[in-house]
Amino acid sequence: MSHYRSAPLLPGVAFITGGGRGLGLAIAQSFAKEGARGVVIFDIQPDDVMAGAVASVEQFLTKDSSVQPRCIAIRGDVTKEADLEAAVAQTVTEFGRLDYSANFAGIVGPLAATWDIKLEDWKRVIEVNTVGVWLSMKVQLAQMLKQDPIGGEETGRVPQKGSIVNCASVNSIQAGAGTTGYSAAKHAVLGLTKAAALEARGQGVRINCVSPGFLLTKLLEPAFKVQEGQTTALLTGDAWSAYEKRQGRKASFEEVGDVVALLSSQRMSLVVGHNLVIDGGFTVNENPE
Ligand SMILES: NC(=O)c1ccc[n+]([C@@H]2O[C@H](COP(=O)([O-])OP(=O)(O)OC[C@H]3O[C@@H](n4cnc5c(N)ncnc54)[C@H](O)[C@@H]3O)[C@@H](O)[C@H]2O)c1
Repeated sequence: MSHYRSAPLLPGVAFITGGGRGLGLAIAQSFAKEGARGVVIFDIQPDDVMAGAVASVEQFLTKDSSVQPRCIAIRGDVTKEADLEAAVAQTVTEFGRLDYSANFAGIVGPLAATWDIKLEDWKRVIEVNTVGVWLSMKVQLAQMLKQDPIGGEETGRVPQKGSIVNCASVNSIQAGAGTTGYSAAKHAVLGLTKAAALEARGQGVRINCVSPGFLLTKLLEPAFKVQEGQTTALLTGDAWSAYEKRQGRKASFEEVGDVVALLSSQRMSLVVGHNLVIDGGFTVNENPE
């Protein structure tokens, strides 16, 4: 008899903010591959992008199952509490519960020196990347705390009512000139993750964050453009190559998706309030050349 585990790793219902494209979409696909019976994509992207995202997740949903897994898209803004409440309510109506959340909606914000940034632009990156993560967690926790644990094959473990993975960045532990807003927002995600993790750990919900390194998603398009009041773009092809060199290589979105999915599993039961860096060794590399 085999001693390998064979049941799906993540049989529950996943809710991914920013799931319409980029890293969020890769996470949605990873949940589908690991056996999720429901995948919910929450994003502000237009309907055609959302429909494309759903189709790309559906191809990975388990087909040989009696539960008929499904992926749905819900349009909404992470800075609006009513949007999040309606989306979580719809998730529960469709699937009965919410087991895994990944809070990946984000923007890069203003990329310039402090003295060249408008206050409203600076506040907006905090509003989306920090307040949006906190608000998402708040609404997700309201559901997770009142539901029964998911159960499953991990006998002897603390029962898991839910798991939340917030998106930080290597900018949660370091910074670059021209990134005060983004770096402040990501440092804050680390702090709110730690505090909320301590609040929820005794009630069956694990909260962690991840810090991806350098992945060429659409998020970074503004960084390659000359910003208002600037003469050069923050990023150039050469600068990007240097980042990837320090990271060791080019990274794939799927590599981030799989880490977030695995971190959501009950097998990670003792991992609480952690910042899991996904950067190929970028942040520990003291010799980038
Ligand atoms: N790409 C990288 O190298 C990298 C590195 C570290 C961290 N991150 C983080 O990963 C997360 C995902 O970024 P990405 O690189 O996949 O970029 P992306 O731009 O492809 O995806 C971000 C998604 O968030 C959505 N979004 C933005 N504002 C929103 C709002 N107010 N409400 C709902 N959805 C909103 C966007 O529509 C988009 O689909 C972000 O938090 C980003 O800071 C990215």
